[in-house]
Amino acid sequence: MGEENHTLLILFLLLLLSNFNFGKSSNSSEVAFTPPDNYLIDCGSSQDTKLDDGRIFKSDSSSRSYLETNVEVEVSVDSILVNTTSNSSSPSSASALLLCRSARILTSDSKYSVHISSPGWHWVRLYFYPLPHLKYNLTSAVFSVTTGDEFVLLHEFSVRETTSVVFKEYLLNVTSETFSLIFKPNQQSYAFINAIEIVSAPDSLLSDSASTVPQGGTFSGLFNYAFEVFYRLNVGGPIITPKNDTLSRTWLPDTEYNAFPQGVQNVSVSPGAIKYPQHGANTYIAPRLVYASADQMADSDTESQNFNLTWEMSVDPGFSYLIRTHFCDIVSKSLNDIYFNVYINGLIGVSSLDLSSINNALSTAYYMDFVLNASSIQNGTVAVQVGPTTTVQSGQPNAILNGLEVIKISNKLGSLDGLLGAKGSQGMSIMKIVAVVGLGMGLTAMVLLAMVFIRWQKRPNDWQKRKSFSSWLLPLHTNQSTFLSSKSSSRRSSIFGSRKSKSGHSGYFNNQGLGRYFTFSELQNATLNFDEKTVIGVGGFGKVYFGELEDGTKTAIKRGNPSSQQGINEFQTEIQMLSKLRHRHLVSLIGFSDERSEMILVYEYMANGPLRDHLYGSNQPPLSWKQRLEICIGAARGLHYLHTGAAQGIIHRDVKTTNILLDENFVAKVSDFGLSKAASMEQGYVSTAVKGSFGYLDPEYFRKQQLTEKSDVYSFGVVLFEVLCARPVINPALPRDQVNLAEWAMQWYRKGMIDKIIDPQIAGTINPGSLKKYVEAAEKCLAEYGVDRPGMGDVLWNLEYALQLQEASSQPDISEDKSTNLIALKKPSRRAPEGESAVSISDDSEVTLDSPMFSELGNFQGR
Ligand SMILES: *[C@@H]1O[C@H](CO)[C@@H](O)[C@H](O)[C@H]1NC(C)=O
Ligand SMILES: *[C@@H]1O[C@H](CO)[C@@H](O)[C@H](O)[C@H]1NC(C)=O
Ligand SMILES: *[C@@H]1O[C@H](CO)[C@@H](O)[C@H](O)[C@H]1NC(C)=O
Ligand SMILES: *[C@@H]1O[C@H](CO)[C@@H](O)[C@H](O)[C@H]1NC(C)=O
Ligand SMILES: *[C@@H]1O[C@H](CO)[C@@H](O)[C@H](O)[C@H]1NC(C)=O
Ligand SMILES: *[C@@H]1O[C@H](CO)[C@@H](O)[C@H](O)[C@H]1NC(C)=O
Ligand SMILES: *[C@@H]1O[C@H](CO)[C@@H](O)[C@H](O)[C@H]1NC(C)=O
Ligand SMILES: *[C@@H]1O[C@H](CO)[C@@H](O)[C@H](O)[C@H]1NC(C)=O
Ligand SMILES: *[C@@H]1O[C@H](CO)[C@@H](O)[C@H](O)[C@H]1NC(C)=O
Ligand SMILES: *[C@@H]1O[C@H](CO)[C@@H](O)[C@H](O)[C@H]1NC(C)=O
Repeated sequence: MGEENHTLLILFLLLLLSNFNFGKSSNSSEVAFTPPDNYLIDCGSSQDTKLDDGRIFKSDSSSRSYLETNVEVEVSVDSILVNTTSNSSSPSSASALLLCRSARILTSDSKYSVHISSPGWHWVRLYFYPLPHLKYNLTSAVFSVTTGDEFVLLHEFSVRETTSVVFKEYLLNVTSETFSLIFKPNQQSYAFINAIEIVSAPDSLLSDSASTVPQGGTFSGLFNYAFEVFYRLNVGGPIITPKNDTLSRTWLPDTEYNAFPQGVQNVSVSPGAIKYPQHGANTYIAPRLVYASADQMADSDTESQNFNLTWEMSVDPGFSYLIRTHFCDIVSKSLNDIYFNVYINGLIGVSSLDLSSINNALSTAYYMDFVLNASSIQNGTVAVQVGPTTTVQSGQPNAILNGLEVIKISNKLGSLDGLLGAKGSQGMSIMKIVAVVGLGMGLTAMVLLAMVFIRWQKRPNDWQKRKSFSSWLLPLHTNQSTFLSSKSSSRRSSIFGSRKSKSGHSGYFNNQGLGRYFTFSELQNATLNFDEKTVIGVGGFGKVYFGELEDGTKTAIKRGNPSSQQGINEFQTEIQMLSKLRHRHLVSLIGFSDERSEMILVYEYMANGPLRDHLYGSNQPPLSWKQRLEICIGAARGLHYLHTGAAQGIIHRDVKTTNILLDENFVAKVSDFGLSKAASMEQGYVSTAVKGSFGYLDPEYFRKQQLTEKSDVYSFGVVLFEVLCARPVINPALPRDQVNLAEWAMQWYRKGMIDKIIDPQIAGTINPGSLKKYVEAAEKCLAEYGVDRPGMGDVLWNLEYALQLQEASSQPDISEDKSTNLIALKKPSRRAPEGESAVSISDDSEVTLDSPMFSELGNFQGR
């Protein structure tokens, strides 16, 4: 992502419009559109900025009311003004460079909200230029931009180039009264923005339907998508700047994209000669200037001419595109003179187009919209071709094109950038996910999902959600890697550390059996006073810091924000619950701090980070099959303990590969069971809203909204396939039948060809018997009905069996066995797996704390 050819870079240099001849009769300016909503913000600027087209961008101070930064985050300076005199060598670069002389740096999740007076199409235009700054290196800033819960505009975006302004233009159908742009920095990073436009566009700009290619179909429902303008070309003519466009658009010359420049000849007429028809094209669709110039075939007089004019533009694959072609017959001498075909990526868009017959006139503007399906974009190129129709022999062999727009359409997940399914960005639109999930679940499920959606909408929004501590305990959403990997090996943290210190604590409640109590200053010391450099994860509700305690214990420190009394109660409940859960395969809560109204949880640090990072998406060396089995077994043990071993039956609710963390010895531990739900704790506990991660969610849970242990089993089945195939559980870029890993894997399983989709890095190394057992277990987990799914104990037993088969078949592998991996040493018990006894065999070496045991240790600790 973010390659330069994917971005519409406005190169304002060299762009003086000096000698374009309009002719005498021309209307030199088009009728301008007066946008009902017109927010122009020059971020970071101390004064208003007036552009040469007359538009005035408001200064930062006068638009400060639109900006809401997350003041609850401890960083007190949450934004910095940059005021650098840009080295603008060319006066014509004025507009963009004027706006980019200043920027606002956003160090935490922040949002710009504006009131929308008139719903409908709106332009959102963003200007980025990484100005130099002493503290913040903007070229290394990585961040995402979303529109509330609706659409992802930019995902993990960064601007490395300092030679030009990066300009992004979106077209969104805004239906709510408030429109928000949310800037979300990556962990340890920050966001910046130089200027923002949020401006109404006329309704007529884009209709709900367009033709499909190949010719013949109609695509409708465009209202429901978001669009990003990738290319907007004034074919055969010069640049058109916002000053000369009715909607402040920029039209670039086409020469750079012309694949066969020798074959074209540009033609132009006076813009005044261009007529708009009664219906169809108007000055908002494109100004006269666009229609007044065109490319036609060179030497079109020659009878034997027969080739295509071709424009090629590189685009992001995996997305569908709206291709808008603008035509105006400014070359024919008489009606019905030229007939030509329009092709998009080799597919026929329209055949034998006779422009003059449409309005019975020449020099009349006309445009056509085509939707090019993502599946028709093979190599990241959109190619538009026009060529003479050979079957119709009347008239000249010629073809023309006056203007061309290539516009990206948001994908099923509501994203215009990146594939967010697996990463679960908060920017994901539930509506769009409904579509994806629905693929596999049929209509009934869709209806239920809609109900869920309605409930979901009733929840407090993101910004209120921060106030709920319980929500803060949700897994971290924004980052694929919650815990950074680190080569350093750390001693496993002892559960309550070796030290003391309940004294002097004046928190909200007594530390009765709640793990170690930390003073705030202890944690300050451990994290270098919560230095940004020690942040290893950022969630919507707080940050996670790496902290080294005085005794050298490495920890992950989750810091929430002081909040309502309700938050404190939930904090207390959570700690009580977490403190009871002790298991070798669960990430341990070491302790907490509530001093100074802080709510801080201290967990053991997991040096090797999330399992997913070792499967795909990062450059970690692949795990062997044996390692994968051991990790799955570990995670299964953790879950089994939650389900059956602990005081109550606890349902994790968010089993996925990012919640399975690996310690320095690759021992798997389940994390983020903070949002787990104890079956017996229905009241006053975590809300019953459907939670979890798409791709892993139990379809039955959706249908019935009833949570059982079997929902975790389902999710774990997805994890098993993810581990086997090493691909994301949702990948919207793939053809429809492959989007969802669970469905796709089951298809291959039913065909008996599961071996075809194994992670190629380990495909040859798996013992067939081991594979069979493993896949059987995974398949059973994915059974449609919970009652048909095995318990975690069963799954565990099958996995251990699979490991045995693998070990029996392989020669002793020195490199693998040298690790003192404890799980590997234990052969599966042949006993019935489901019973707790079988499990306690492998678990009795663990410090398993039920309340009585716990208080004993607590006392010990106090000595
Ligand atoms: C930049 O700073 C200088 C002085 O520090 C000030 O005169 C100027 O107005 C500032 N420019 C902007 C765009 O804020
Ligand atoms: C400013 O422009 C001049 C002339 O184009 C160039 O020599 C100089 O390196 C530029 N300075 C910066 C900081 O870009
Ligand atoms: C925007 O979407 C709504 C439905 O969500 C639709 O009714 C409306 O016509 C759309 N407006 C425009 C200008 O597309
Ligand atoms: C800023 O970050 C970029 C990319 O990470 C790096 O190439 C550049 O050297 C950094 N500049 C400074 C001044 O640190
Ligand atoms: C039109 O073509 C001529 C020569 O073929 C070229 O010099 C000129 O720059 C072209 N104009 C545009 C707007 O492309
Ligand atoms: C743009 O419009 C202005 C008047 O608003 C006119 O003077 C100028 O020539 C136009 N430029 C082009 C390239 O059309
Ligand atoms: C100029 O524009 C006006 C309205 O915008 C129109 O009535 C008039 O016919 C136009 N003139 C020419 C020469 O196109
Ligand atoms: C024009 O392009 C289309 C689609 O790529 C192709 O089928 C056709 O043969 C081309 N025509 C000529 C004359 O090359
Ligand atoms: C794209 O094509 C695929 C198969 O060719 C089809 O299933 C899908 O519905 C199409 N998408 C759109 C948006 O038309
Ligand atoms: C990519 O597509 C373009 C246009 O269809 C074609 O000209 C080019 O040869 C293709 N390149 C590859 C590597 O397939």
